[in-house]
Amino acid sequence: MRLLVTGGAGFIGANFTHSWANENPGDQITVVDSLTYAGSADTLAPLGEAVELVVGDITDAALVDELVAGADAVVHFAAETHVDNSLTGPSAFVQSNLVGTFTILEAVRRHGTRLHHISTDEVYGDLPLDAPDIRFTADTPYNPSSPYSATKAGSDMLVRAWVRSFRVAATLSNCSNNFGPYQHVEKFIPRQITNLLTGRRAKLYGAGANVRDWIHVEDHNAAVRAILAGGRIGQTYLIGADCERSNLAVLQTLLEIMGHDPDDFDHVADRAGHDLRYAIDSSALREELGWAPAHTDFPAALAATVDWYRANEAWWAPLKDAVEAGYTERGQ
Ligand code: NAD
Ligand code: DAU
Repeated sequence: MRLLVTGGAGFIGANFTHSWANENPGDQITVVDSLTYAGSADTLAPLGEAVELVVGDITDAALVDELVAGADAVVHFAAETHVDNSLTGPSAFVQSNLVGTFTILEAVRRHGTRLHHISTDEVYGDLPLDAPDIRFTADTPYNPSSPYSATKAGSDMLVRAWVRSFRVAATLSNCSNNFGPYQHVEKFIPRQITNLLTGRRAKLYGAGANVRDWIHVEDHNAAVRAILAGGRIGQTYLIGADCERSNLAVLQTLLEIMGHDPDDFDHVADRAGHDLRYAIDSSALREELGWAPAHTDFPAALAATVDWYRANEAWWAPLKDAVEAGYTERGQ
């Protein structure tokens, strides 16, 4: 297998690349990543020559064409991913998420290459807090709230149109909130862990009642591998691990794991347009492809993630001050 991974120097793509390289040592793996603030060559360094890193942009049509020509399959993770950044600077989101996905689609169309497109549950908008029985399914209408989720929704629509109009051999997946090793310190869980490790206080947006549906990154990537192996072309698969928690509940579990008092945090300015609740019904994926999450003990998986950040300070420490300076400027 000759595999092209876009965004493979970022959080989920790098975890995917690590596990694919370990499980398939004979495969040729190429990562294309422009190494934005969110990507790091260091994350792939432990893999040595098992992976070729091409530093380049997915909106570069000539580069993408050349890389896709040499691949049997493309797994497309590359994107601008942080909702807060999309509120202050949406332009990069339009470029990478929409133009970038268009560029990938045109290349896989020309070369007849299999594509798996990675997307998010945020394309469905949010759910009310007081209706626990309602969850997202593949039939839920798209209703994105933020510039980030709007560009991801647009990218999904492009993929669907290229499947229907040009018979591109693509599958799609929409996953809930990931956590685990190598997640950028701007995101909720690593931000709080590294705040506490650096003597800062944890920061909760608003009252912390917003609910996210957490999944360990290894479980997300196991589902992606199952879809690549057995997914139906044109199908959208929802990936989630039945782990809904309010932000306050996640933070209090974390504070306990790290030996802090339950009220050892600050309430900070809420996110504009803050989505209330995400929840995934992943029964279709489980029934069709036999996938199930392995990391179902959330406190244990969170504790292991804390251990990873403790042990890998050299990976995240150079990023921390600049990220916190940006949050301070926004009152968060
Ligand atoms: P991330 O921000 O950690 O990594 C994104 C990577 O893409 C970075 O390495 C960055 O350098 C690269 N990139 C960005 N724009 C690029 C461009 N124009 N050309 C080449 N490379 C570019 O993101 P992540 O959290 O690993 O998310 C990966 C994918 O998974 C995204 O498509 C995201 O929408 C999706 N997703 C994320 C989550 C989550 O909880 N993090 C959940 C569901 C879906
Ligand atoms: O649902 C999938 C999505 O999950 C992905 O598509 C996105 O790429 C990913 O960033 C994530 O989006 P969220 O906006 O849900 O994740 P974030 O880590 O930014 O925030 C999680 C929740 O925590 C959210 O309700 C905002 C809140 N929050 C966040 C930060 C950074 C805080 O309360 N305090 C914080 O410091």
